[in-house]
Amino acid sequence: MRLILLGPPGAGKGTQAKMLKEKFHIPQISTGDILRQSVKDNNELGIKASSFMDVGELVPDDVVIGLIKERIKQVDCETGFILDGFPRTIVQAEKLSETLNEMGLLIDRVVDLEVTAEEVISRLAGRSTCPDCGGMFHEESRPPKVSGICDGCGGVLAQRQDDNSETILKRLDVYQESTAPLKQFYKKQGNLKAVTARGSVEEIFSRVLEMVK
Ligand code: AP5
Repeated sequence: MRLILLGPPGAGKGTQAKMLKEKFHIPQISTGDILRQSVKDNNELGIKASSFMDVGELVPDDVVIGLIKERIKQVDCETGFILDGFPRTIVQAEKLSETLNEMGLLIDRVVDLEVTAEEVISRLAGRSTCPDCGGMFHEESRPPKVSGICDGCGGVLAQRQDDNSETILKRLDVYQESTAPLKQFYKKQGNLKAVTARGSVEEIFSRVLEMVK
């Protein structure tokens, strides 16, 4: 199964992708996570990406396309994958189709998580993540058992650099301008399914499962 999760920042792509990964035993490929790891490692990619990520801009297409092309050819992707945060522009979507065509593969389903800007702002402003294991929390909907400490590994939780109000608004603008047109792109291909991403994480997960059946 090859899936794409679409949706604005904070729609819950990462949350749902992790649950799909557990259920179907296929990798979650998050370009945001790959880029953040590179920033943490302070490698060439990270240094290049951070100047865009910090201000809520997209990292240049050629950089992320290169990453994904390599990643989906790895052996753990043979039975499928979940793309979380890629593609984000029409150019990225076209290049993905091209690469999959060359491999004799197709995207099976594109799930669009629909959520309002107000909900997104509240989700992102309340989010904290564990820099050690990637665990994700929210001060209201998923608080850690001990404030500021990861339930999974005991790491100290941190707010993402780009989860401040100014950058969140910028990310929402960039989403509308560059990523929202992908809905039309995939609608034309006939594999887009919209899911209301309001309600509990579990409710949304059952809706997503209905769409990927
Ligand atoms: P990326 O990491 O992909 O960030 P994003 O798209 O902005 O999405 P988020 O990770 O912020 O949100 P999400 O939808 O995954 O929601 P989550 O599940 O975390 O990208 C970051 C940056 O990297 C970009 O700005 C760009 O610079 C660069 N980049 C990445 N990919 C790129 C690409 N392809 N091309 C170019 N540049 C790229 O949930 C959010 C919060 O809400 C959490 O606290 C969660 O616990 C909570 N929550 C989840 N579901 C619910 C619910 N149902 N109810 C209440 N709370 C909920």
